Amino acid sequence: MASNTLTVTDNRTGKKYELPITDGTIRAIDLRQIKTDGDDFGLMTYDPAFMNTAACRSAITFIDGDKGILEYRGYPIEQLAEKSTYLETAYLLLRGNLPNNEQLAEWTYDVTHHTFINENLKSLLDAFRYNAHPMGKLISTLAALGTFYSEAKNISDAETRQRQITRLIAKVITIAAFGYRHMMGQPYAYPDNDLSYPGNFLNMMYKTTEVKYTPNAALERALEVLFILHADHEQNCSTNAMRAVGSSHVDPYSAVAAAAAALYGPLHGGANEEVIRMLTEIESVKNVPAFIQKVKAGEGVRLMGFGHRVYKNYDPRARIIKKVAYEVFEVTGKSPLLDIALEVEKIALEDDYFVKRKLYPNVDFYSGLIYQAMKFPMDMFPVLFAIPRISGWLAQWQEMLQDPDQKIARPRQIFVGAERRDYVPIEKR
Ligand code: CMC
Repeated sequence: MASNTLTVTDNRTGKKYELPITDGTIRAIDLRQIKTDGDDFGLMTYDPAFMNTAACRSAITFIDGDKGILEYRGYPIEQLAEKSTYLETAYLLLRGNLPNNEQLAEWTYDVTHHTFINENLKSLLDAFRYNAHPMGKLISTLAALGTFYSEAKNISDAETRQRQITRLIAKVITIAAFGYRHMMGQPYAYPDNDLSYPGNFLNMMYKTTEVKYTPNAALERALEVLFILHADHEQNCSTNAMRAVGSSHVDPYSAVAAAAAALYGPLHGGANEEVIRMLTEIESVKNVPAFIQKVKAGEGVRLMGFGHRVYKNYDPRARIIKKVAYEVFEVTGKSPLLDIALEVEKIALEDDYFVKRKLYPNVDFYSGLIYQAMKFPMDMFPVLFAIPRISGWLAQWQEMLQDPDQKIARPRQIFVGAERRDYVPIEKR
């Protein structure tokens, strides 16, 4: 009868070991018993970049990259994008289930009524140079925000944790918008409690002399959908940073700042900006075939917004975003880059090079076009990613803290440096 174990023979010693298989994995620590003699430390695994290592058990986000499936807590992303709001989705990620009317009203009220930030934080923003990158300002201000709440260190108390979660989700839109106003040399616009979460963000970004800012309903909904799509994506680079830093039991503001720093990198949060640069460089539809040839020739040019480590099919978020792009262009007018993007997609999807390598548009292919049409400068694109991802980071952080399997994250290494040697006085070197 088949048993759920893996039999390993160590050819160095001839010994056999039987390792349990659970959920399609073996525990790396079970390999430690495999030793050549009593002095041997025991076998380890070597897995740079976590290519084949599950670092946690998680009940939050499910991805099937081959089938192009993304689900939050079991709900397909397509249904959430069509029917939910960002705050409802954040509640789902954080608490595990969709809220009822009363729960949603209370959650929305709490987030809305925590959007103001301490005025001292404005002085911090003012200290930045006019051309400071908004992500640098966001990372610093998120870390600074924690200094206003000393209770945040008490991460084992559920109620205290919840208060910081509400504050972080509420205040990130204010910090992000203030960062933009600072960059533009404009006075800060304060939160308006009558508006929805994305509507309030648009208000703080774009309000000028009007007494009350009314966001365009289509643009407000587009931002809502983009926030839902970016809220979580299981164990990616920034989420791993959140979990690793949080595992030291530091306060959540510091851990979120670390996660935001990870997101700032061009390999993670910066690809949609690269898409805009690429489409601008292509310049016109007639240049698309030549550009595709350049990509295929492997001249160091990649088709930005294409391909994904996990999705080997159309990224389900890209399909939704493409639809949203058309709705936004109805209001803003069509982006001149859209026709180029459509031609790139059409040619690439039919081309053997891309088909064979399973390269499809990812979430970033059309999102930059939408942000650009909504007048967000390119430097703000990673900030627009970080705002909703905070709910995912916090859901993962909370799950990590409550998981009895987790400890402070501390990888092993294979030491390849110099063997022990004696210190040589400088005059004898
Ligand atoms: N254009 C052209 N060729 C590509 C591309 C691309 N965008 N992506 C992968 N390839 C080729 C690559 O050259 C390789 O070919 P070969 O087998 O001949 O050597 C093959 O496809 C496999 O590529 P890989 O680099 O091993 O794949 P990966 O899983 O390590 O990389 C990726 C994933 C997203 C980094 C990569 O597809 C890429 O650089 N894409 C462009 C950047 C981009 O759009 N990034 C946003 C990702 S979605 C954001 C998120 O979810 O956080």
